[in-house]
Amino acid sequence: MSDSVGVGFLGAGPVTQAIHLPHLAGLSDRLHVAHVMDIDAAAAAEVAWRAGEETRHSTSAGALLDDDDVEIVAICSPHPFHAQQAEAAIRAGKKAVLVEKPFATTVEDAERVATLSQATGVPVIVGAMHTYDPAYLAAAARWGELPAEARHVRSVIQLPPNSRFEALATQLHGTPSGPPRRDLADPTARAAAIRGSVLGLAIHDLPLVRRFLPGIDRVGSAELLVPFGYRITLHGPDGRTAELIGHMGTDWRPEWTFEVWSASTALDIDFTPSYVRAGSAEACLRTPGERVRFGPHPHNGYEAEWIHLADLARGSARPLHTPGDLVADLAYAIDVADRAAAIVSTQGAAPCP
Ligand SMILES: NC(=O)c1ccc[n+]([C@@H]2O[C@H](COP(=O)([O-])OP(=O)(O)OC[C@H]3O[C@@H](n4cnc5c(N)ncnc54)[C@H](O)[C@@H]3O)[C@@H](O)[C@H]2O)c1
Repeated sequence: MSDSVGVGFLGAGPVTQAIHLPHLAGLSDRLHVAHVMDIDAAAAAEVAWRAGEETRHSTSAGALLDDDDVEIVAICSPHPFHAQQAEAAIRAGKKAVLVEKPFATTVEDAERVATLSQATGVPVIVGAMHTYDPAYLAAAARWGELPAEARHVRSVIQLPPNSRFEALATQLHGTPSGPPRRDLADPTARAAAIRGSVLGLAIHDLPLVRRFLPGIDRVGSAELLVPFGYRITLHGPDGRTAELIGHMGTDWRPEWTFEVWSASTALDIDFTPSYVRAGSAEACLRTPGERVRFGPHPHNGYEAEWIHLADLARGSARPLHTPGDLVADLAYAIDVADRAAAIVSTQGAAPCP
């Protein structure tokens, strides 16, 4: 394994088991799972055993950070631990850190990690996988003035519940908790539910939305969709708008799309669902008289993220996003979540669309 870079996981829940390990298995020429840590000893042992004969396991983050074979730390624990574990991984002198989304639970925590990353030179990336998708990046290289000229943006994420994909992707160790059951007649519960769905689901593509709608003047409308989801409209300067729809229910075909329109150009991107290794998105840029298509490429955003991490650890690449951008992405997501929460706390729960 001398040429391959060792990865350590802090947290061995569904995202590690059903998303990251299957993607890493396809990249064994450059990456291997060196260590799995979880506060649940049985989960750490079982997931390490599945990852490889030589993979170590522990219940202590300190033990993983002391493991010299761990060069990249992947933080896949629940949200409240992300910032503090990222700081510990940087201070331990690791070569690169992947923090699953959200980067942190507060902007101040994210700023602290970003400052430490800049001071030490240890690169940190956040698991917004579509920002690494090869078809998205190929379209970005060709879209010219579209970010400056965009009029309207639409992000639609309609998926079956994660548990259905997780069951298809792997035999999960442990039972995922799922979103908490809430009494949606209670305004505080409605606010918490839409905040959770923005910071859990919409956040995947909010960095893309921010490229085309960098400033939000006001949130025009926000509705909570049941059993889990949101419908939100954002208004920016010069009449720019964005529409965000996210819904997880039992009777929807997966759809994960992102669209942008300006007076002369339209961009549409069709992403593949998270839990299947089905290659990249397919994107299309349409201008009068021309359609340029991008993808599908063999790697999806998660695989591209891991290839980028391996290159960062070897020192052969520079981070695609600056620490300042990662903080700004989080601040944007928290702003949308808070403003949407303020609106839905004055309404009833909406039915499914
Ligand atoms: N990028 C994506 O597509 C994607 C998809 C799903 C989840 N996520 C993110 O990944 C993270 C984990 O998600 P999940 O669905 O696996 O969550 P989960 O909360 O169900 O599982 C997390 C695991 O972390 C363990 N844990 C708890 N406290 C810990 C600690 N202090 N240190 C280490 N491990 C600890 C738990 O025992 C559990 O096994 C979340 O932040 C989530 O937002 C990202």
